[in-house]
Amino acid sequence: MLMDCISNEKAELTLDGKTYLLPIVVGTMGEKAIDIRSLRAETGYITIDSGYMNTGSCSSQITFLDGEKGILNYRGYAIDDLADNCSFVEVAYLLLHGSLPTREDLRKFSVLLNCYSLIHEDMVHFFDHFPPNAAPMTILSSMVNSLSTFYPEMNENPLEDIDNMSARLISKVRTIAAFSYRKSLGAPLVMPRHDYSYCANFLNMMFDSPVNPYVVDDDVVAALNKLLILHADHEQNCSTSTVRLVGSARVNLYASISAGINALWGPLHGGANQAVIEMLEKIHTSGDDFKKYIDKAKDRNDPFRLVGFGHRVYKSHDPRARIIKEACDQVLGALGISNDPLLAIAKELEAVALKDEYFIERNLYPNVDFYSGIIYRALGIPQNMFTVMFALGRLPGWISHWTEMWGDPNWRIGRPRQIYVGPKSREFVKIDDRK
Ligand code: SDX
Repeated sequence: MLMDCISNEKAELTLDGKTYLLPIVVGTMGEKAIDIRSLRAETGYITIDSGYMNTGSCSSQITFLDGEKGILNYRGYAIDDLADNCSFVEVAYLLLHGSLPTREDLRKFSVLLNCYSLIHEDMVHFFDHFPPNAAPMTILSSMVNSLSTFYPEMNENPLEDIDNMSARLISKVRTIAAFSYRKSLGAPLVMPRHDYSYCANFLNMMFDSPVNPYVVDDDVVAALNKLLILHADHEQNCSTSTVRLVGSARVNLYASISAGINALWGPLHGGANQAVIEMLEKIHTSGDDFKKYIDKAKDRNDPFRLVGFGHRVYKSHDPRARIIKEACDQVLGALGISNDPLLAIAKELEAVALKDEYFIERNLYPNVDFYSGIIYRALGIPQNMFTVMFALGRLPGWISHWTEMWGDPNWRIGRPRQIYVGPKSREFVKIDDRK
């Protein structure tokens, strides 16, 4: 893949009086990179770029982002088109296979998802041994990691069985998420149903009751499909890069995904969707004084940050935030929720921030996490499961990147270099001579 992008242009680098010509690679959407794979061998130098602000780790055919123009495409399809016209399962198929499914493809994929919707009864007992207040993301990453013990064959050549491995994980993670919620309530587990769609099944497993049967609401199912689609992939974000890095050591898919779940949990990453609601509630109980919080966010001596704002790549609007914001009014309206105070505060915060020099100078806009919690809350999803919902959506993206890496003939184990700034060599001192 990368070899197909080498252009005729060269980058000239002069070091210690010697000039080196480095290849330039150009992506299919015109992104350019200096190929430094031979840099240390030719010059003895490495580069340094903490946080990988300017460093590409791979080439990929899965997702394209343009942070300046606010563009997000999955396999070449615009996120707006996918969010408006597809189900989450269709988009999961697109990410995994590179093309939108035919009706027959979708039928076969749905049969696989149904076939893998239960978890081993021994795994069900795992839930009995987590502490009652265990964080749902810890439970999720532990359960996903332990899944690989039930399928030891995964450590053979996984690409031969990637359809089963992917469908099994996408289906079982939904069941694990719902079961962990039911267990946290002490409520009876609700089994998946083959006659329900992916999202309807999840909602039913979460909210059905033997005494008050859950009625699947099409507006709620549509809203959940849209949210999961918007979270399905986002190129080399922290958690996807984690899945790739762990997988690059030839770790099986489920163990790699478990690592990605842990990375996503961070409040700077997927954990932000839960933190946004906590922030909006705090502002609301403090009398909606959002100007005070805007000032706190701008104060370098105050650790408070406007959660749900800012992005490493988007230096203009995050298209997902725009779509979710539009969906908020529609979903809350369909659910008969009018004047949600947190939505009103969120909109005010956005309006004030986007006129404020501090946010304008730093290109800080609402990101995917700023409004998503408003809808999850309206759907009845408990706040401590918002990041689990992010993981449910991101799963097909993680699997696609892991599979793409395993299928790349030029793939190497990920092992960054460093610049050492510690003590120079020192004489050893025996313990009795140390002061
Ligand atoms: C996700 O990478 C992805 O694609 C992630 C994601 C995905 O789909 O996988 O899009 C999902 O993780 C979205 C981001 C969710 N996180 C948050 O909402 C947490 C709040 N946001 C920030 O912590 C921050 O904006 C990050 C972590 C998102 C991005 O951090 P960067 O790129 O390292 O930027 P930075 O922290 O260096 O900030 C640059 C400047 C700083 O000010 P100065 O030092 O220049 O004076 O902007 C300021 C920051 O203090 N800043 C903020 C801010 N975010 C950045 N100031 C106030 N509030 C904020 N939210």
